[in-house]
Amino acid sequence: MCGIVGYVGPQMGSKALGVVLEGLARLEYRGYDSAGVALVTADGLQTEKRAGKLENLRSALDSHPMEESRTGIGHTRWATHGGPTDGNAHPHRGGEGDRLALIHNGIIENFHSLKKALLAEGVEFVSETDTEVAAKLVGREYDKLGDLTAAMLAVVNQLQGAFTLLAVHADSPGVVVGARRNSPLVVGLGDGENFLGSDVAAFIGHTRHALELGQDQIVTITPDSYSVIGFDGAPAQGKAYEVTWDASAAEKGGYSTFMEKEIDEQPHAVGDTLLGRTKDDGELVLDELRISEDQLRNVDRITFVACGTAAYSALVAKYAIEHWTRIPVEVSLAHEFRYCDPIVDERTLVVSVSQSGETMDTLMAVKHAKELGALTLSICNTHGSTIPRESDAVLYTHAGPEVAVASTKAFLAQITAAYLLGLYLAQLRGETFGGDPKELMTELREMPEKVQEVLDRMDRVVEMANFMADTRSVLFLGRHVGFPIALEGALKLKEIAYIHAEGFAAGELKHGPIALIEPGQPVFIIVPAPESPHDLHKKVVSNIQEIRARGARTLVIAHDGDEDVVPFANEVIRVPHCSPMLAPLLTVVPLQVFALHLALAKGLDPDQPRNLAKSVTVE
Ligand code: G6P
Repeated sequence: MCGIVGYVGPQMGSKALGVVLEGLARLEYRGYDSAGVALVTADGLQTEKRAGKLENLRSALDSHPMEESRTGIGHTRWATHGGPTDGNAHPHRGGEGDRLALIHNGIIENFHSLKKALLAEGVEFVSETDTEVAAKLVGREYDKLGDLTAAMLAVVNQLQGAFTLLAVHADSPGVVVGARRNSPLVVGLGDGENFLGSDVAAFIGHTRHALELGQDQIVTITPDSYSVIGFDGAPAQGKAYEVTWDASAAEKGGYSTFMEKEIDEQPHAVGDTLLGRTKDDGELVLDELRISEDQLRNVDRITFVACGTAAYSALVAKYAIEHWTRIPVEVSLAHEFRYCDPIVDERTLVVSVSQSGETMDTLMAVKHAKELGALTLSICNTHGSTIPRESDAVLYTHAGPEVAVASTKAFLAQITAAYLLGLYLAQLRGETFGGDPKELMTELREMPEKVQEVLDRMDRVVEMANFMADTRSVLFLGRHVGFPIALEGALKLKEIAYIHAEGFAAGELKHGPIALIEPGQPVFIIVPAPESPHDLHKKVVSNIQEIRARGARTLVIAHDGDEDVVPFANEVIRVPHCSPMLAPLLTVVPLQVFALHLALAKGLDPDQPRNLAKSVTVE
């Protein structure tokens, strides 16, 4: 999961380095353990690369400025093969006189055998990466064929795995060639200049005209042209589209961190995801789904596949969709799905949830589900990404670009989209067990305002986080839809504040976790709405009493007007009242804010936590 940028500008131009570095800064969320650039200059090919964040590369370039150029590629890395060192950073070089530079996102699975063959021929390697093998192969083909596109074509079919490759050659100024298989690459179409990027953020400061590439395609850009061919060499077409957001949406806009900005954007993420999906009378219309109503009526089982935060949104979806539709719903971590002989057939709807649309584990689960004959639907935030393209249908979330590694606004948008799906299925099947879909939609449309109300009340949560900067462990308890929120609260704290945190189903407490409670142990409890069915509210209040009696510090998230919790709470964090099923959109917000401010209080960078990357494009 690396970030990739390519640029070609006009004959007299010299802005390649600036464009490439700007693109890398916007893509750094994809990986940030090393970065590098290659420029085709009048003096030949020049490369610079450094381990560590982009800043290290910038300092190196300040001390050793590169020649001016109109042709360049750049890479920000999340290491897979070979540690994050200067030597393993991209670009890698190949061909006679090392005149070709190549960058790569993904994994070339057969690189060992390819490397063995090249070593036997006397080719020398300077890194431990799989990428260098591709650089050597494309470089060698260029020496034979004298054409970058032909050289790329000659190599791509020898490679197995997932990859996006970009290459430039000293003898081909004004040309960048890219290839993609199971890994993202988009083209940015400018005026007298063209761009390539892992996603549109790479070039959004320059153009909003974009071209989506298909699977197994090669694209060649020059300043005023682009051409696409398939891995079989036949001419192919990309799909043009306009990016609807601008550069400011991908920038911090006055906030000190992306995470803070993205948390504050949550009312919009929910509101925009609901936009245009109902008629005036409240009837849901999801014609964008591209699955026929008959097929959907025929569905007798739903399986969600997702990873990380997206999987917790799927867990919320399970409660809501089962209740509203009476269709059995299962949630499978995408990386486990393939290995448990899933019971899936043509009446199963497999719903993948992914912010990036590039998570390899999720993509592979979708492919497996298709092989088994299931209908596949993607809930995704990234237009044109791989998972929606591989799926039969897509329901886009409209959270806008999410840059901070820890997902926040995409999570709320995913839950919202899952509610839409559940209510749509209930409407289609005439199911009213869980209430009238139209009435539930009316309440759902009030949620953006309520999310805003929660955000407006966060002062005490920020104070609590500052006060708890030395905390070593935090527990989270919830029941029903509060259970996935407990898991997500714990995940946020682990991800960005590096604090040991665990989420439990509150009912499970007495079956083990209660042994962890000792005097002073902070425990967040997500309390269901007082009118929740099955006496859930009472049961959670009892759980609070049980841990409080054992000395826990109880940090209670409760609805407005719920006075039952007050005697047993060290802190009460209030959220506006809403029906039990929709509460996750509100109760998770204080937990996100708490994790963010605890990370800041510890002096950590919440946008780029250690060892993580925003989209994990390896299995
Ligand atoms: C990574 C990120 C998580 C994210 C997960 C799923 O592990 O660090 O924050 O939730 O991937 O990402 P996706 O793009 O598929 O939603």
